[in-house]
Amino acid sequence: MVRILVLNGPNLNRLGLREPDVYGHETLEDLENQLKEWGTKHQIDVQCVQSNHEGELIDQIHQASSMYAGLIINPGAFTHYSYAIRDAIASISLPVIEVHISNVYKREEFRHHSVIAPVCIGQIAGLGLYGYTLALEALVKYVNK
Ligand code: DQA
Repeated sequence: MVRILVLNGPNLNRLGLREPDVYGHETLEDLENQLKEWGTKHQIDVQCVQSNHEGELIDQIHQASSMYAGLIINPGAFTHYSYAIRDAIASISLPVIEVHISNVYKREEFRHHSVIAPVCIGQIAGLGLYGYTLALEALVKYVNK
């Protein structure tokens, strides 16, 4: 069975509470349940991890290398400045898709640049939580091609 890891970064444990006008009313638990349900339906093993800590995210990326076929990551604000997370992704050979719930390109200037995108196969932004399901579909297709 294809195994995919979904990694959510800082403050995404606050989904549903945090700026609901930007990130919506659904919680991280709602999101993870939706992704796992999608996995069950499509016979894909979807595992979800959230961490507020850069080092933990880096450890998860390294470990994913030998355990999963692909990785979906929403690095939160680390997107915009974490060369360490970028280097961790560059150090593994898994396909990675970057997801953002909000349309970062119509928000503050500092959100317009991703240091992560160049080491990913693609990026999805602005489509809400549905972006994660789209990323799953795209990643499974990429892995099976
Ligand atoms: C985010 C966008 C980032 O700029 C922000 O720091 C987040 C969430 C998103 O999913 O839209 O924490 O990654």
